[in-house]
Amino acid sequence: MDIAITRGRQALSASRRSNVPPFIVMDVMAEAARIEATGGHVIHMEVGQPAAPAPAPAIQAAHAALREGRIDYTSALGLPSLRARIARYYRETHALEVDPDRIVVTTGSSGAFILAFLALFEPGDRVAVTIPGYPPYRHILTALGCEPVLIETTHETRHALTADALLAAHRKKPLQGVLVGSPANPTGTMMSREALASLMAAAESEGIRFISDEIYHGLDYAFPAVTAAALSPDALVINSFSKYFCMTGWRVGWMIVPAALARPIERLQQNLAISVPTLSQIAAEAAFDGGAEMEAIKAGYQENRRILIEGLPRAGLTNFLPADGAFYLYADVSAFTADSTDFTRRMLAKAHVAATPGIDFDPVHGHQFVRFSYARSADDMRDAVERIARWLGG
Ligand SMILES: Cc1ncc(COP(=O)(O)O)c(C=O)c1O
Repeated sequence: MDIAITRGRQALSASRRSNVPPFIVMDVMAEAARIEATGGHVIHMEVGQPAAPAPAPAIQAAHAALREGRIDYTSALGLPSLRARIARYYRETHALEVDPDRIVVTTGSSGAFILAFLALFEPGDRVAVTIPGYPPYRHILTALGCEPVLIETTHETRHALTADALLAAHRKKPLQGVLVGSPANPTGTMMSREALASLMAAAESEGIRFISDEIYHGLDYAFPAVTAAALSPDALVINSFSKYFCMTGWRVGWMIVPAALARPIERLQQNLAISVPTLSQIAAEAAFDGGAEMEAIKAGYQENRRILIEGLPRAGLTNFLPADGAFYLYADVSAFTADSTDFTRRMLAKAHVAATPGIDFDPVHGHQFVRFSYARSADDMRDAVERIARWLGG
């Protein structure tokens, strides 16, 4: 439906490419807020956001910077000290040397997608993304005039895109890019090193550009997450301070880009944003000193994951994917409903547990699934299991 805005006597309609679908989770949040306004206590498992604030060193650094006075623009690629600190993170976490010249600071990973897609693709280019998958991948591609090509993934591959599936789609009609995330949203599943390497090799052999969304790195429980940067200098890696670092609202992320793209991306960033908010960059650099805090939060997620993996089957939800990482569990609710949107609506109204219907992430099979986010307290998780058990049982 076109949005019509009346200006004088002329109707001004929005462009066709701006007509992207909304994020359904936002509607769930609005309904939860209505229940809370009338005194109800809702357990929030719909939002993919850490409950904890930014690590203390980040907040202290931001206070200190404000006291010092001016908050100027930084260079378009980001504060040199932050880029160097990110390079150190790869050295320490992945034993990988990354030239800071290849590191670009961005406005969250969301800002990184825009820069990456603009730098890599022409209008009309076809870019493979998985379903289920994070909805803005396909919506941003659409808004930029690219064509998202949805490839279904299956339980058998932990919902990882395989080389065979990629090449089959490419043979049908050539692809120019592919984007995968591991740990993934909404499934919480991860790609093994072998699965990632084989997919990247297939993409490289066909000249398909490879983008790896690594925003949930750090939150890996089943096995250590592998960065695509360790497997190819041509991969474009996207990461963020939003999840492991608990800094969603600060809006800082980063990319590791192929060397040849650093300058084009710098020019794009100069024109699109000038630079990423400086206060947030200063805080992000200091966040790396909050390792102990962040590991304690991760341990909390791990406990939440245990509570749900043990508790949900007792509550009646027996069928879910391996929750390898991130803070999501993707449950099959087809034993109860053919419409997971209606299921989440009723669960919110009756049990006061908010979760996200799968249709947000998967237009094909999403009506069978619900995503639970377990980024809140262990008490909330226990309470949620009890409420769901009572609701489904009664
Ligand atoms: C898979 C994935 N990628 C990217 C983002 C965007 O995060 P941000 O822009 O805060 O870095 C999210 C947010 O939920 C996400 O789940």
